[in-house]
Formats: sequence, C-alpha cells, structure tokens
Amino acid sequence: MSDSHDTVLVVDFGAQYAQLIARRVREAHVYSEVVSRAMPVPEMLAKRPVGIILSGGPASVHVDDAPSIDPTIFSAGVPVLGICYGCQLVAQLLGGEVRKTGGGEYGRTDLTSTAPSVLLHDLPPDQQVWMSHGDSIVAAPDGFVVTAKSPGAPVAAFEDRERGVYGVQFHPEVVHTERGQEILKAFLFDVCRARPTWTRTSIIEDSVARVRTQVGDEKVLCGLSGGVDSAVAAALVHKAIGDRLTCVFVDTGLLRLGEAEQVEETFRRQFHVDLVHVKAADRFLAALDDVIEPERKRKIIGETFIRVFEEVAADHDDARFLVQGTLYPDIVESGGADNAVIKSHHNVGGLPDDMQFELVEPLRDLFKDEVRAVGEELGLPEEIVWRQPFPGPGLGVRIVGTITPERVAILAQADAIVVEEIRRAGLARSIWQGFAVLPVVRTVGVMGDDRTYAYPIVIRAVTSEDAMTADWARLPHDVLERMASRIINEVPGVNRVAYDITSKPPGTIEWE
Ligand code: XMP
Repeated sequence: MSDSHDTVLVVDFGAQYAQLIARRVREAHVYSEVVSRAMPVPEMLAKRPVGIILSGGPASVHVDDAPSIDPTIFSAGVPVLGICYGCQLVAQLLGGEVRKTGGGEYGRTDLTSTAPSVLLHDLPPDQQVWMSHGDSIVAAPDGFVVTAKSPGAPVAAFEDRERGVYGVQFHPEVVHTERGQEILKAFLFDVCRARPTWTRTSIIEDSVARVRTQVGDEKVLCGLSGGVDSAVAAALVHKAIGDRLTCVFVDTGLLRLGEAEQVEETFRRQFHVDLVHVKAADRFLAALDDVIEPERKRKIIGETFIRVFEEVAADHDDARFLVQGTLYPDIVESGGADNAVIKSHHNVGGLPDDMQFELVEPLRDLFKDEVRAVGEELGLPEEIVWRQPFPGPGLGVRIVGTITPERVAILAQADAIVVEEIRRAGLARSIWQGFAVLPVVRTVGVMGDDRTYAYPIVIRAVTSEDAMTADWARLPHDVLERMASRIINEVPGVNRVAYDITSKPPGTIEWE
C-alpha cells in the first residue's frame, strides 16, 4: 500500500473475525492489512506499522502447536493490541497466567471497569461486550494494570502503557460490543497516534495514481459483467487513463432485465467510455440448445464467453493490459495451516492465462464495502453499486431444465418483479439476494374461466454474511403476496408462485 497512509497490521490467528477487525480499522479511516501469523516479525515491521493487532482464534494457548508469535514483537516500539486469543497470547508470552477455568463465556457479557484505562477511557463503568472464550486469563503479566473484569474473566482487559501493550478478552470488532468501535479508535488514535487518512477520496487518488504508473501510455481492456466489481474497476481505470480504456460487455442473452441497457447508459452515455457491446444472445442460446445438466451449461457459457472475448481482444491487439476486479479478501493470505495458501483470484468470465495480458487490479486493496463506497463516489448509479451477486452463467443456471428464449424472457421479467418489490419494501440492503427461478415443469391452473397449463416461478430470498451459509429471508407476507400476484398478472406463461424456505446447507443459494 502507498506510503502515504499509516498502517495497522492485523495478525491472523485463525479468527473468523480477522478481516472484520481490518474493516473496522479502515472504517475509522486508518489503513489496515491482514497478515499471516507465519510472517516473520521483521517482515511485519518492515511494513512500518503504527500499530499491530493480534486477532482472536479458535485454539487454546495450552494445546500443543498452539499458534504463537515471536515475543520480540512486544519490544519493537510498535503498540500491540491483543484481542481474545491474541490477548491470552500476550498474557502467556509476557509471564501472566491463562487457565482452563471450566467457565467460558459466549455471547453478550457484562464488563465492569476496574481501573482507569486508555482503551476504555470515556466509556461507562459497566457495558455490554461480546465474549467467546473457553480459557481465561487469571493473572496479568508484571507491569500490566487490569482495567476490566467480567463474571467469567477476572482479567477481561489489561494494559501496560509503558510498553505499549494492550489486551481485551472480548471482541470490540463485533456490533454486539456496544462501544467496540470507540475502543478500537482509542487504540488507533490515543495509543498509536494513527492519522485517519484512509478515505474514499484518498483511495481513489491512490488507485488512479497507481494505475497511471502501471500502464503508462498503453491501452487497456476491461471486461464488464454488469456486476459491482468490474463496474467500479472500470470507472477507476477510466478516471486514470480516459479513452485509452476499452470496455467489453458481452450480452449473453442470459442477463437480468435492463442490465445491458444500464451498462450502456452508465458507461457509454454517462462516463463516455469506449464500449464494445457484443450482442451474442443467439450464439449462446444455440450453444445451449437442449442442454439440461447445469455443469455442462456452465462450461458452455464460460467457453462461449471466452471465445467472444478473445475475438474482441484480437481486434484490440495493441492493448497490453486487462483490468480485473480482484478484491482484497481474494488475496489475503490465510491464517490457516501453512499460511502459504493464497485463494485463487476471481477471473473475469474465466479468461484463460495464455491471453498475454498484464493484469490491472485497482481494487486489490479493498473490501467489498469500500468498493461500493468508491463506486458511489465515482458517480456510478445505485442500481449498479448495490447490485446483488449474480452467477457468471446468469439466468442460464436459474432455468432448471433446457433454456429457450421464451423461458429466458419469462424468468427475466419475473426476476425483475422480485427485485423491484424487495427494493420497494426497503429490504434490498438487509437481504443477501432475492431472485426468481424457473423450474421447467408445468402444472394446471385456472385463470378467468380457463384452464391453464404453465410454469411456476420459485422466489428465492436469503440472508447471509458471506454466501457460505444462508438462511431463507423472512419476507413479509404482503411483500410475497405482491410479488406473486404481479408475476401471475404481468408475466405470461406463469400460473403459480412458490417461496423457497430452505436454508444453506442443506440447499444452496442458487437453484441449478
Ligand atoms: P450457491 O448457489 O453455491 O451460491 O449457494 C453462493 C453464491 O455464489 C453466487 N454464484 C456465483 N457467483 N459466479 C459468481 O460470480 C458464479 O458462477 C456463481 N455461481 C453462484 C451465488 O449467486 C451466491 O451468491
């Protein structure tokens, strides 16, 4: 990251919350990066952090091979904050005592201040925090002042101001810790003296400068999918290099209603981007003729996409760079086993490696919420910035059975109604996804005095944090009713609407 920002490192001890800690630090406008606990301390210090946070983790400090850290970190002159497991590690490494007391604390817990504290300064003496620990610290190391306790943790917070080492047994990064963000801010600003320079404006400025340095006077190609990441990446690169950027939008014929027009409107008319809009619906539908099996559909759609993109790229063979919307969570090194594992990058439309482009990844330092903030700042419309996730193969996998133009048209219309009603009900940002599915079966119904024999539409709406698990959204009945009656009345070929109440697992979010 640019030297112009103060950096706080979050050392990942396998916590589900390590990335969340980094996000919270960034919300306080301080740049933060997650690093693996296997990173040698000199390498961490080479990043010149103004503060280091040791994350929580699932282990007990008492097990063999418990993850640890070189204790020289405590004497490097950089303030350290241990959270949960990180706090127990501080206690253990500096001579305190961590014990299996048999009485862990999980969930909302009352915290009571026991001594004046930098971290808890200005906060009420009693407050609610979120705990999740089995072991407890029973004695703080020499030199530390115990600043808070809870019913199950005699040492729930401690600090050694002299040494600049702090610890909290609870999780300040989760929303259930009422004043958590203030506690993190106290560490960032009162202890680390960090400068709050990480703002959406500075993110854009840095990114634009880096893109300019990377591409010089060369030409750049960007595949637009209609989704948030590629749109924001394109807008950023366009800001950096203007008409040396060419965007390619492949209309597979399997897009959401109005998506192609919206991409045209935004990028061609609003941003004046050089946009190649390839209308390839016929080609995709021909390739998918009679295909039922979803994996085969995915392969065909992916491959056809690549061929189309390659053809466009061949017409732009003087473009040496390709923009990709890789995000920070895609490249964070895992805190797991050997720490060498880096998750494979998302690849726009699964483009092949042998395309000979150098990648431009303007979002690789950003979390999704930052990408959205940057998108808003750049003037992208809300419908793009807050668009829900959409599978690469598009509506092709949401038609369960063979794909025909008629079925795509039915599904696109029904889907638009579901999305619109969710938005009108003010639920768009509280659910993860809400969309329509078309299973290719027909059932008998009656409309007016006539018998119908038509398709059902299944509404799928879920809440989720990360799409790994999900619960069906408890949509209000009147919203469901409006969706159902509009779909039946407005979409020819549908005579029945069902709502999917399966969580993930055992279901998946998509039907395919
Ligand atoms: P499942 O159905 O596996 O989906 O529960 C999890 C999340 O992933 C999205 N999804 C995709 N996203 N390309 C994507 O970028 C794909 O091919 C793809 N397939 C599924 C899905 O919409 C859900 O949010």
